[in-house]
Amino acid sequence: MNDETLSPQDIAKRAAGVAAIDCYVRTGMKLGLGSGSTSHWMVRTLGERVRAGLDVVGVPTSTGTAEVALEAGVPLGDLDDLGELDLTLDGADEIDRQLRMIKGGGACLLWEKIVATASKRMVALVDDKKVVEGLGAFPLPVEVVRFGWTATRRLMERLLAAHGLERAEVVIRGGPTTPLLTDSGNVILDCRLGAIADPDGLMVGLNGIPGVVENGLFCGVADKALVGYPDGTARELG
Ligand code: A5P
Repeated sequence: MNDETLSPQDIAKRAAGVAAIDCYVRTGMKLGLGSGSTSHWMVRTLGERVRAGLDVVGVPTSTGTAEVALEAGVPLGDLDDLGELDLTLDGADEIDRQLRMIKGGGACLLWEKIVATASKRMVALVDDKKVVEGLGAFPLPVEVVRFGWTATRRLMERLLAAHGLERAEVVIRGGPTTPLLTDSGNVILDCRLGAIADPDGLMVGLNGIPGVVENGLFCGVADKALVGYPDGTARELG
């Protein structure tokens, strides 16, 4: 794809993905491979580097990323065989200056959190539009089991109200009759919150509700963030 066909945001995403490989990836590494368009730029570039002799093995965070990696020629391994990973590179939907994130816009948050926390380091890759002063404008995805999801939603709404989010709207992605199913066969409840005063507390609280498998708040997970810009440059956040 040449640059004339790319939007400024795509150029920024690609810049973050390419810079991540140049800055952090070394031969011999076991890598977590994130999901979403920014991560896919990174995975395609990784494929080019593998063809040029880089020796790495990747663990994909979604079936979609596995397909991109296979097409790009990135060798893949199983998380259960590889043990602790050296580094995960993954995108985000929002990131604040403390490197807290909302993830899961692509419905891959569960595998993303498992892989990121199975890694020594996690670096977030974002375009400049994702950097925010406070989290919450992007609807927070929560992965829940399909059984009894309306009961789970009720408990979530109570918890959100206790966090000062009485006006939160919680909707099942894809709609009640044709819900989107994640790679683990669960559904996603998107929480339209507006602003989250206590992301750390909400992250822990949501996971205490029966039926919630994982939520898209990633606090204390990223070690660094690389921000790409439409001029093709990338810089560390902070
Ligand atoms: C996938 O579930 C998400 O966590 C992605 O990492 C996030 O949605 C970023 O996607 P883009 O890179 O496509 O913006």
